[in-house]
Amino acid sequence: MSLVIAIDGPAGAGKGTIARELAARFDCAYLDTGSLYRGLALAALKSSTMLNEAAAIAALKPDLTDAAALRRQDVTEAASIIAVYPEVRAALLAFQRDFAIRPPEGKRGAVLDGRDIGTVVCPDATLKLFLTAAAEVRAERRLKELQTQNQHARYADVFAAIVERDARDSSRAAAPLTPALDAVIVDTSSLSVTEVTARCIALVENLLN
Ligand code: DC
Repeated sequence: MSLVIAIDGPAGAGKGTIARELAARFDCAYLDTGSLYRGLALAALKSSTMLNEAAAIAALKPDLTDAAALRRQDVTEAASIIAVYPEVRAALLAFQRDFAIRPPEGKRGAVLDGRDIGTVVCPDATLKLFLTAAAEVRAERRLKELQTQNQHARYADVFAAIVERDARDSSRAAAPLTPALDAVIVDTSSLSVTEVTARCIALVENLLN
């Protein structure tokens, strides 16, 4: 049986860290689906495509060549804006499903993280996790990350950006951020990375045994 682990949750909940840990532990390939939306947003910005031209953006190829550019604040915001369009979501769906069904490099399974993996992309996933944390905690974590990269940022601005992105990702009509009915919700607000990892590994092992 192929193993498919879906991890959803808001920005800054620690999805990427846990997804990488689980992928390494259970011999799975990892797909950060947010990078596809970021890649499309970057391609749109580079080609001066207006962010309200849904069909034109959906026809672009995600530009994944520059990892640093994908994390830029303007790209982050543009990704959340274009992710609202059903055409854009539809254009990225087949690649994500195919990755889950046929993981590359002969891996045993796949771990995908994003906003709609458990609800839309992989509704039959072996395990669905919904990682969340209070917005204040997520903003604090993001601020620390920026500081370690020597980037200047104010807590109030980081917090406001997180709240705005949460609202846009959760309120859109197409595949909004919401836990699948059968997802296990893990609130990471007062847990360390080690504790969250241990809890998630135990959930997978429980299913496999
Ligand atoms: O996970 P991230 O911060 O890299 O995602 C960037 C944006 O992409 C996010 O604000 C919403 C969108 N996204 C989405 O709508 N669905 C996904 N499965 C992944 C990301």
